[in-house]
Amino acid sequence: MNKSKRNAVIAGNWKMNNTPEQTTALINEMKPLVANADCDVVLCVPFVDIVAAVEAAKGSNIKIGAENVHFEAKGAFTGEVSAEMLTACNVEYVITGHSERRQYFGETNETVNLRSLAALNAGLKTIICVGETLEQRKQGVTKEILSMQTKIALKDVTAEQLKNVIIAYEPVWAIGTGETATAEQADEGNKFVRDAIADVYGADVAETVTIQYGGSMNAGNAEELLSKENVDGGLIGGASLKAKDFSIIVAAASK
Ligand code: 13P
Repeated sequence: MNKSKRNAVIAGNWKMNNTPEQTTALINEMKPLVANADCDVVLCVPFVDIVAAVEAAKGSNIKIGAENVHFEAKGAFTGEVSAEMLTACNVEYVITGHSERRQYFGETNETVNLRSLAALNAGLKTIICVGETLEQRKQGVTKEILSMQTKIALKDVTAEQLKNVIIAYEPVWAIGTGETATAEQADEGNKFVRDAIADVYGADVAETVTIQYGGSMNAGNAEELLSKENVDGGLIGGASLKAKDFSIIVAAASK
């Protein structure tokens, strides 16, 4: 059983939800519910909620992350935030390459690589998202898409930096749709990602990388998904906006 070599990580991705005030209230509600977690617990929140989230999570086992980061250190990039700005706010994690960024905001495998490198160079733990569309799944190229996205995202990432990388396999068709991948599909997708990492860094290193599943993971299906050999955690959208539901997922990962 290789799963024991890896850190289980449950991360919420709040997307475009919650004001600072709502952030404080939700984290205060979550804190006691996840206090006994035997996994890493992370909440990735909108930029404007970061200060409130870090303050509310102080002294607890909840770590705070951002939902994106720009690759340049500073300059004329309206609307963007640098890695240094995040670390200065005591952010420990960041998401890169979420499919919503790729789909709606023109991000490419290349920019996801650059953003991930900037995050890793700043010492941020980086949750890199990959995932095929429904069309790609129907075309039978899921393995190729996941392999390509993973390898390009990790271009120039050293084996040492890889220790701060988490990959989230999020099939685009399962995000926010209520249509979860079956546990077998999730395990297979995560295995494709692990095989791609093994191609570049070797099988021993690949066995140590935490690979999450994301896409309609919820309180009802988390236990089955997380029981799979290659599913080392979850990246949770909708269910991370409800303290009780999120804590049930955290508990499932702690078994
Ligand atoms: P849902 O859990 O709402 O499907 O979102 C998944 C996701 O995109 C997490 O990054």
